[in-house]
Amino acid sequence: MTMFLSLSGTLTSSVNSLVSLIPSAISLTISAGRLMDIVKMPQEDYSQDTLVQSFEKQHKAEGIGLNMQNLSYTYHNGTSVFADASIEAYPHEIAALAGPSGEGKTTMLRLILSLLTPQEGSFHVCAGADHEQIIPMSPSTRKLFSYVPQGNTMFSGTIAENMRNVKPDATDEEIIEALQLACAWDFVEKLPEGIESTVKERGGGFSEGQAQRLSIAHALLRKSPILLLDEATSAPDVAAERKVLRNIMQDTYPRTCIVTTHRPTVLNICTRVYAIRDKKCKVLEEVEILEMMKEF
Ligand SMILES: Nc1ncnc2c1ncn2[C@@H]1O[C@H](COP(=O)(O)OP(=O)(O)O)[C@@H](O)[C@H]1O
Ligand SMILES: [Mg+2]
Repeated sequence: MTMFLSLSGTLTSSVNSLVSLIPSAISLTISAGRLMDIVKMPQEDYSQDTLVQSFEKQHKAEGIGLNMQNLSYTYHNGTSVFADASIEAYPHEIAALAGPSGEGKTTMLRLILSLLTPQEGSFHVCAGADHEQIIPMSPSTRKLFSYVPQGNTMFSGTIAENMRNVKPDATDEEIIEALQLACAWDFVEKLPEGIESTVKERGGGFSEGQAQRLSIAHALLRKSPILLLDEATSAPDVAAERKVLRNIMQDTYPRTCIVTTHRPTVLNICTRVYAIRDKKCKVLEEVEILEMMKEF
C-alpha cells in the first residue's frame, strides 16, 4: 500500500508538471504565429525615397502641407469609415479633426501616414505658394511626419535619452527648447535631476498629462514638416492643452499640424476645423465651432 501511494504520488506530480506546460506551449504557438505574421507582411515600397528627400530639402524653409481629396476607405472587415472625404492642411496651420470616438479620426491619421491605403481618392503632400508642387503620398513620404499616437510613447530611460532617440545629436538647449514648447519644461525644471530624470516604460512616474507633454516635446524636437497629434492633448488639463497648441502655432518653424480631439475646448485656436461625421470631413464655420464649444 505504501509503495502504491508513493508511486502514484510520483505519477501525479509528473502528470501535473506535464499539464502545467500546456499554457506555456499555447503562448509559445501564439507568439510564433505573431512573429510569422510580421515576417509575412508585404515589403513596403520605398522607391520614392530619393524624390521625397530632395522635395523636403527644397521646401523645408517654406514648409510642406498636405491635400487629400475624395477619399474612400473601408477596412478589410467591411467597416466603411470614409466616403468622399477631403482634408487639407498647410504650413503654419493647425487643422483639427473633431468628432466623437469611433468616427474615424485615428483612421484618417493612418491614411495620412500611408499605413493604410485609401481605395479611392487623390492624396498628396504639397509645397509652393499655391501648393502646386505635389508628390503622391506613399510609405516614403512617412519620413516627413512626426506622429504622437493616442496614449504616450515614452520608453524607460532618462528624459534626455528618450529625446535623443529621435535626434541623437540634439544638444541640451535644443531638448529644453522642445520641452518649453510642449509646456513640459515647467515640471521637468523642478525635478532634482532635470532632463536626466528617469522615466519608466509608457511614461511611468509622471502623470498622464505630463507624459503626453513629454511625448509632444519628443515629436517637436525632430522638426518634421508635418506633425500629427492623436488626442495627444486630451489629458484633463485644458489650460495646458491650449497653451501647447498656441506655442506650436507661434513657433517660427513652418510646421503643418493636424490634431484630433473628441473635446471641442481647443477648436477656436485651430485654423481649420473638420467635423468627422457620416464618413465625411466637413469644414466647420466659426458659429458652428462656438456652438459646439458651448454645448460641451
Ligand atoms: N483595424 C481595424 N479594423 C477594422 N475596423 C477598424 C479598425 N480600426 C478601427 N476600426 C473601425 O473604424 C472606425 C473608426 O475608428 P477610429 O479611426 O479608431 O475612430 P476614432 O479615432 O475617431 O475614435 C470604428 O468604427 C472602428 O471600429
Ligand atoms: Mg482615435
